[in-house]
Amino acid sequence: MKSVYLSMVSKTEEATSTFGEDISKGLSQQPKQLPSKYFYDAKGDQLFQDIMNMPEYYLTNAEYEILDTQKSEILELIGADTFDLIELGAGDGTKTKLLLEHFLEEKADFCYSPIDISGNVLRQLKSDLQRRWPELCCEPLQGDYFKILEDLALTHDVKKVILFLGANIGNFTRERAQAFLEHVGDYMRQEDMLLVGFDLKKDPEVILNAYNDPAGITAAFNLNLLERINRELDADFDLDQFKHWETYDPITGATRSFIVSMTDQEVRIGALEKTFHFDAWEAIDVELSQKYDVPMIEKLAREAGFEVVKNLYDEKRYFVDSVWKKR
Ligand code: AVJ
Repeated sequence: MKSVYLSMVSKTEEATSTFGEDISKGLSQQPKQLPSKYFYDAKGDQLFQDIMNMPEYYLTNAEYEILDTQKSEILELIGADTFDLIELGAGDGTKTKLLLEHFLEEKADFCYSPIDISGNVLRQLKSDLQRRWPELCCEPLQGDYFKILEDLALTHDVKKVILFLGANIGNFTRERAQAFLEHVGDYMRQEDMLLVGFDLKKDPEVILNAYNDPAGITAAFNLNLLERINRELDADFDLDQFKHWETYDPITGATRSFIVSMTDQEVRIGALEKTFHFDAWEAIDVELSQKYDVPMIEKLAREAGFEVVKNLYDEKRYFVDSVWKKR
């Protein structure tokens, strides 16, 4: 997962800022804020795997169901004999494998290109896929999403099908989501297709439980960010003096994670040679997981230069994989 965020960032944040700089900037702001892309170090990757395995975290299963039950529909929507299947953020490919398997069975002439910032993730995925399907054309591309999309646009002539799964778009504010999608569109042609995964508004209790699990896995996932700052930046956050707090606003669909300081305290960050003060019950804004409804998705598509071709839902309508083409 780590890579999705790093790649997204290189486009939406201007420069290549370092971990330390971003932490320093975030903790100097009012209200304090820390970027959720930094959740994903080795321990954070593991905790995110644990989250995806929790019964409360319905997102993964819902999208898996969509791809599993509607893979033929997706191939029909692609409607071309030859295409490039490009995935933004490779992950471990569990969900994408459903599509790969089906496309191979149907003898589609396609090449799969997962894009990721981590060469390691890509090497692992490629060897895994080649062991399973020696006949699969797989060309992982390592680096920044937009640089690679530009390269592909210049060098590859076949139809492009671009996947952006897992509700990763939810980590963007509305404004940044639109900018991100517009930029993807810059490298697409009329016949190309984009499939974006969105988590939908639903019973607020279901949403809140997914981010507020009783076992405390999500809390550990969030607090790991403070641990990471301790480890990598020689800081002295006392984790017992901070708690995870989650909110869901059923009007806007914003699902937010906070880390709240339980006491009035100072934290020293050695590598920054800085001390930060926290008031009792002062909150740090750490993550947005935006939930959408269908009109919001249609508006976002339109304003980013796309039109919705088809919305693919799971049985419970918890999630949607929205298929777009350029307007
Ligand atoms: C990986 C961004 C889709 O927002 O649901 C899971 C990350 N955070 N639990 C999400 C996450 C807390 C996840 N995304």
